[in-house]
Amino acid sequence: MSRLIHSRLSLSRLSNTWGSIGRGRYLSTESNKIDEPLKVEDAETINPPPAAEKVLVLGGNGFVGSHICKEALDRGLSVASLSRSGKPSIKDQWANKVSWHQGDLLSGDSWKEALNEVTSVISCVGGFGSNTFMYKINGTANINAVRAAAEKGIKRFVYISASDFGVINYLLQGYYEGKRATETELLTKFPYGHVILRPGFIYGTRRVGNMKLPLGVIGSPLEMVLQYAKSLNQIPVIGPLLTPPVDVKAVAKVAIRGAIDPVFPPGIVDVYGIKRYSQQKAF
Ligand SMILES: NC(=O)c1ccc[n+]([C@@H]2O[C@H](COP(=O)([O-])OP(=O)(O)OC[C@H]3O[C@@H](n4cnc5c(N)ncnc54)[C@H](OP(=O)(O)O)[C@@H]3O)[C@@H](O)[C@H]2O)c1
Repeated sequence: MSRLIHSRLSLSRLSNTWGSIGRGRYLSTESNKIDEPLKVEDAETINPPPAAEKVLVLGGNGFVGSHICKEALDRGLSVASLSRSGKPSIKDQWANKVSWHQGDLLSGDSWKEALNEVTSVISCVGGFGSNTFMYKINGTANINAVRAAAEKGIKRFVYISASDFGVINYLLQGYYEGKRATETELLTKFPYGHVILRPGFIYGTRRVGNMKLPLGVIGSPLEMVLQYAKSLNQIPVIGPLLTPPVDVKAVAKVAIRGAIDPVFPPGIVDVYGIKRYSQQKAF
């Protein structure tokens, strides 16, 4: 259970500081200015979540998804995962505690059984390829999941989207169009229960077969430098390329919080917001 502990903003200020993107709200935590996104430091979770919370991680065997599964287990949640390949071959202890489902979000209906008794969904499904493929996997597959979760009456849906990368958006058109289409569907189907995370590059330990790739070797120093260059991020065309990378553990922490913390506000959380939320002590 959570409670509000501190609010610097009056309600009228609040309505001004939530910028509008479509029907959604854009949440960054770096500014106090009226016309910039909201600064939120108000939510503190004071008790562990009730045992009845069950999180379904779509793509729980992937890079980000596996860190989210681990974070959820560490918090005492019941965790399930759905992906085309199901249970990964890794021997790590945590993997035995996840209930693994095999299914393709782009095919048939049987995967919908994985949604039974689930209280919140976190989707890490996405990928690269041809524009048509990227639209399908980042858009259609996730839209199918959003619709099915809404039909089941699930209350919260967290989506790992991606930040804009300026010119790169044009090169990866299917990827970004798919991401934004899913976001739009979420705003419609989960107006009060959506949390959209928009990280740039995510670093951490990524498994490729039996190997572990330490992406933090590049990501961590880059994050150190670029986190202080937020103003450069506003420069047209090249600015978005300077979006700081973010630690996969920070993404996992905020995703879980978005899924289970009742005072976590719905909206879009940019990379600066992800970093700030992940550093809050109470969670
Ligand atoms: N990594 C980054 O730097 C980064 C940066 C920004 C945003 N993101 C976003 O974060 C999300 C996770 O990224 P990641 O790096 O963890 O990707 P990943 O390792 O490739 O994981 C993708 C997951 O989706 C599952 N999946 C793919 N197609 C599916 C389908 N049709 N039905 C069910 N499951 C399916 C995959 O499992 P199967 O193959 O077994 O189905 C896998 O578990 C993606 O949406 C990505 O766009 C990543």
